Amino acid sequence: MPTLGPSLLFAAGLTIGVGAGVLYPRKPTSTGPTVQLPPPPPEGGKQESRALIPTAVGSAVLAHGFPGPTPDILKRTAYTAAYDRRLKHPAWTAEHLTSTSLARTPPPAAAGTQTVPLDQARKADTTGNGEKVVTKGDRSKSVFMEDEGVPEIFRAKLQDYFKSGYDRGHMVPAADAKISQQAMNETFYLSNIAPQVGDGFNRHYWAYLEDFCRRLTNNFEDVYVFTVPLYLPAKQPDGKWRVSYEVIGNPPSVSVPTHFAKVILASRPDFAYPQKPGPANPNQNPAYPTTSASTIKELALGAFVLPNAEIPDQADLRSFIVPVEHVEKAAGLQLFNDQVKSKSKQLCSMTQCQVIVRRFDDARKSIGKK
Ligand SMILES: *[C@@H]1O[C@H](CO)[C@@H](O)[C@H](O)[C@H]1NC(C)=O
Repeated sequence: MPTLGPSLLFAAGLTIGVGAGVLYPRKPTSTGPTVQLPPPPPEGGKQESRALIPTAVGSAVLAHGFPGPTPDILKRTAYTAAYDRRLKHPAWTAEHLTSTSLARTPPPAAAGTQTVPLDQARKADTTGNGEKVVTKGDRSKSVFMEDEGVPEIFRAKLQDYFKSGYDRGHMVPAADAKISQQAMNETFYLSNIAPQVGDGFNRHYWAYLEDFCRRLTNNFEDVYVFTVPLYLPAKQPDGKWRVSYEVIGNPPSVSVPTHFAKVILASRPDFAYPQKPGPANPNQNPAYPTTSASTIKELALGAFVLPNAEIPDQADLRSFIVPVEHVEKAAGLQLFNDQVKSKSKQLCSMTQCQVIVRRFDDARKSIGKK
């Protein structure tokens, strides 16, 4: 298969480079030394967060302030992100997708409380579309913006991307923020952007993966998506592992990730259990009429790591699956706790993990040529 090449390469890098899947269960931090973390910066933070922060390990040592790292926590209408001041792109972004948040017409409500049209939804998951998409946010009305919430010296600049050869790749896609023009505009902050290979990646396979995440809302009630830029080591001819990446801008400023991960947690009522109808809730999604606080949910968890490189359209999405822990270890993040992980089934055992190839831009190009 022609598609095995790149994915095998990166899989080797991930498995060996990141460590052979060794799991260190997180211990309660109460046993360790008490270190008081600095408070998170103000939301969308305008101020510098270099206030004097006494820490238990030595307020005298840090008499002149806590140096960081400071995660700029950016709370937006459609997502939350943490910004990495050293790399000058997000450390991660998080979204909660539902058929409502995507401003799609939810699938027709099932009669009664026992059946959800899962087969129908599964079909929609792979054949896609047919559904009416109500668009409130319009991409053509948004422009890329520098994020003034990030202190100037740490900020990614439009100039850094200019003629870099890389696309300004959305971590939270604009199409996930159709709920309002403001929500969509906010996805165009450079604090939600990382440099991505354009042809064959940002404009193609990565976009198919984003579409896959949205289509999961046909099949699941709640879809939580983390997008995480990664720097993975690759084996060099001298046998050593090194992380090699470009830095764009003049002077160089914004780092170009070697890989990008999407980690997805999806949930829906578990109809293997008899479910009691919940109390009437006007905000409830009619596709899931039984959902209430007491509803027993089934969870599906999946992680995909893609190289920041041209990926052939025919590549099998499943060839990019990795254990969630590999992403966590490579990124230094705990995305989901052990309880959620142990309760979750594999996403691709619960839904068909397949991308739909859409070459919109090529269609446009050929129209343009006429
Ligand atoms: C979205 O961005 C565009 C372009 O900068 C601007 O004209 C428009 O007012 C913004 N809309 C909202 C709702 O923020």
